[in-house]
This record gives sequence, structure tokens and C-alpha cells, in this order.
Amino acid sequence: METDLYSGISILRSESDPTWARSAAQSINETLVDHAHCEKKAAVAAMSMIASYSDDAELIRTMTALATEELSHFREVFELLVQRSVPLGRDPGDPYAQELLALVRQPARQRKLDRLLISALIEARSCERFQLLAAELERLGQRDEAAAFRRFERSEAGHTALFMRLALREGKDAALTRLDELATAEAAIVAKLPIMARIH
Ligand SMILES: [Fe+2]
Ligand SMILES: [Fe+2]
Repeated sequence: METDLYSGISILRSESDPTWARSAAQSINETLVDHAHCEKKAAVAAMSMIASYSDDAELIRTMTALATEELSHFREVFELLVQRSVPLGRDPGDPYAQELLALVRQPARQRKLDRLLISALIEARSCERFQLLAAELERLGQRDEAAAFRRFERSEAGHTALFMRLALREGKDAALTRLDELATAEAAIVAKLPIMARIH
């Protein structure tokens, strides 16, 4: 399928700082708290797309399946926190996603395209980070945690592809031109954020 060209990390314009995985693994409980909140927000974002685009059957079908999957990821990460006696606590917020969402243009067609492309980029960056974290956890001999992040990595790669599929329906040339702009902005945002024990 053509959209497989746009799956996972293939749409990113930069690689994460190599020291990120070490700090994320060192403070794995903190990273898991942030990760749980990310999964929760991914489910909420999918529901919000359904609310915004109630006349788009393909989008509704795709987002319904996605919300269900993201919520099951939330449950899985939440159970890991419970096993470790780590409270979920309040959402620390996500400056990375907030800065990206500030780039959404307001006219309706452009707004829809931008929301889809930004979601694709967030999924892609998450995919990259899970891949790096899984490798670091494998290196540290934490095999169960590493296996969980390998599974999350594969899911996020698929989510990038599904958002790209929906975005390309809005017109291939417009979608790829805007992807180029947003991916460049995403790389700049990642580069200036501090390295912390969080997913982004
Ligand atoms: Fe997820
Ligand atoms: Fe996802």
C-alpha cells in the first residue's frame, strides 16, 4: 500500500538526541507516568476527531478503532504503574504536542489536514522514542519492559500510516507540501526541548 511509504519514523526529519534513551530508562517510573498520560491523550484526541468530523465515515471508523487501541495501551501502562506502586498522578502536560498543535491553521480544510499530519508526526516521534527506549532496556537486561516497548513501537508505526492515509485523502500534493513544513517544525521543536524522562 502506498501509505506504507509514510509509516513510522520515515516521515521524521531528525533523529532524537542519543542521550534521551539513557535518561528515560534511568527514570523509568517517571517515563511510564508520562507515557500513560500520552496514551490517554491519544485516545481523547481520536474521540475529538470523531466529534469534529461527524460527516466523514472513513475517519470515524478509523478513529473509533484507534481510540479503543490507545485506551487499551493506557490500561496496559497504568497496570505497569500499579505493579510498581507508582501513582499515575496529574498530567504534567506536554509542551511538545502543545507547540505542534499551535501550528494548526484555522480555515476548516487546512485545519483538518494539519490535525491529521500533526497526529502522524506525534505517532512517528513516539515510535522512534519507543524503539530507542526498547534498545536501551534490552541493553540493561530489562527484558519484559523492553518487549512491551517493542510492541508499542509497532503500534505507533501503524498509527503514523493510518493518519497519513487520512491526510493524503485531502489531496496528495497539499498533504505532502504541508507535511514537509510541519516535519521541519517538529524537528526544531524536538531539538530545543530539554532531555527529560518523558516520551517527548
Ligand atoms: Fe498508543
Ligand atoms: Fe498511537
